[in-house]
This record gives sequence, C-alpha cells and structure tokens, in this order.
Amino acid sequence: MSTLTANIPKTRQDRCGWFQPSLGGCTDAGKNGSGWRLVLLGAPGVGKGTQADLLNKELEACHLSTGDLFRAASKQTESDQSPAMRAAMEHMRRGELVPDSTVWEMVRERAGCIRCRAGFVLDGFPRTLGQAESLKRLMETEKIPLNAVVNYELPLGEIVARLSGRRTCEKCKAVYHITGNPSKVDGVCDRCQGKLFQREDDRPESITVRMAAYERSTAPLIEFYKALGLLVSIPAVGSPDDICGRTIKALRARA
Ligand code: AP5
Repeated sequence: MSTLTANIPKTRQDRCGWFQPSLGGCTDAGKNGSGWRLVLLGAPGVGKGTQADLLNKELEACHLSTGDLFRAASKQTESDQSPAMRAAMEHMRRGELVPDSTVWEMVRERAGCIRCRAGFVLDGFPRTLGQAESLKRLMETEKIPLNAVVNYELPLGEIVARLSGRRTCEKCKAVYHITGNPSKVDGVCDRCQGKLFQREDDRPESITVRMAAYERSTAPLIEFYKALGLLVSIPAVGSPDDICGRTIKALRARA
C-alpha cells in the first residue's frame, strides 16, 4: 500500500483535526478536487480507526473521529469543560453512548469539515438513528452526498481480543496492538514518539456495556444505510492493509 502521508496537510492526518481548525489545510481540494465522503460502521474494536487512518492516506480525506474528539475534550481543564461535556465524559468512561444532543452540538460546530472539498472519513459517527437522521439533513441542506457507508464485520471473540490488546498514542492518537500491530519500540509511538496507553473504556466491564450499546443503538444503522443504497459490507479479517485494499476495491467498484 502506498504511503502518501507526506503530501497530506497535518489536519487530515490528525484524528482530532476538526477540533483544531486553526491548523489549516482543510479547505484544500483532495486529489481530484472531489473528495470521498465516507461513514465507517462496525462494532467497537472491529478496526474502524485503523482503517480510517489507512483510508486517510490512500484517499487524502480527513479522518474525523468523535471518540477522539471526546478524549481530547477530556484532557481540557474542568473549568474549560461545559456541564454537558463533563456528563459526556462520565458516559464514555462507563462505555455508554454520549447523548445525541451533546454529540450533535460538537459535530455541528465543525460543519466546515463536512463541507471541505477534500472529503472525510467519519469514524464513530453517526452511532444512533437520531444522529444518522441529523447528518442526512445537514448533508441535504449542504447538497453534499455521501459516497458510501462501509460496514466492517468480524466475529465477537476476535473483536474482544483486538480491544484488550489495543494501545493508543497519547499525542497523535495512532493505534497499535500489542501482538497484531506492535510499535517498533515497546510503549513508544512510531509516528511521533509519544507515549502509548491503554484506554480506560477497554476494561472488560466497559467493553460489555459498549457491545450492548452497539447492538441496541448502532447496529440498526446497517438497515438504515442499506435502504439508502449506500451500504458496503467488508469482512474485517486479515491484516489492516488487506482490509484496506478490500475496502478501496469495493469503493472503486461503486464509483
Ligand atoms: P470510539 O473511540 O469511537 O470507540 P469505538 O467505536 O468503541 O471504536 P474503537 O475506537 O474502540 O475501535 P475501532 O473500531 O476504531 O478499532 P481500532 O482501529 O482502534 O468511541 C468511544 C466512546 O466515545 C464511545 O463508547 C462513546 O461513549 C463515545 N462516543 C464516540 N462517538 C459517539 C457518538 N457518535 N455517539 C455517542 N457516543 C459516542 O482497532 C482496535 C484494535 O485492534 C487496535 O489495537 C488495532 O491495532 C487492532 N487491529 C485493527 N485492525 C486489525 C487487524 N486487521 N488485525 C489485527 N489487529 C487489528
């Protein structure tokens, strides 16, 4: 798989880029001036973030992760956090979904990213039918179509193994796995030399709550997007590069 990272503006490599619009670069056109606009679906830990990073390099579209947005907000001082954001952090720690109103407030603030001609890969949003309806309305108002919704599929046992071995960079949010995708130096990010940590919601009790929330609230989006003719289902087995190659092939076949 080719690595195009050097040509991509910093905001498009940063999983919280839309949280920091001052970094600049997001108004550039993508390779062809008409970027890909994708939603990634799938259970927690199936590999959406890993794939969004790879798709970001291949398609040069921004990787926008609502989970990373909330984790970035949790690093702000308490006085900088609104009461709604403090409540959101509590939901997240327990593995529950953050209320739609809080999520939508954050996404709406970044509507400029949705309009960016470079396109986007949405990772972790939408996650409920309410969020999907809100996104659909916003995109209809902006007259911007989604290209596809990619649904990654993997048996539960493998998902839990992926979650329990995950390590994340505290600086650039790059994701590793202690056996499946280890960093070159133990505990240190290959990309920015930041420290790697284990996410609080990857504890077994939070994983159970997250899986239940996925089944209840997010799995129904598969039918929602199938009915809109946007769904592309991809088996999430094999190496991250293999899965990305499979995804690009399926997307190009639709284009
Ligand atoms: P979020 O951060 O979005 O978490 P998630 O959806 O639970 O997904 P994960 O990040 O856990 O997993 P992933 O599918 O991205 O997998 P990854 O690539 O890391 O959300 C966290 C929380 O925020 C939510 O629980 C909720 O509270 C809140 N939230 C966020 N958005 C919200 C919204 N819209 N509405 C309401 N609440 C919201 O991979 C996992 C591991 O597997 C890694 O270690 C990776 O290296 C490894 N791996 C990946 N691919 C492979 C492979 N092919 N082979 C082997 N290992 C692999």
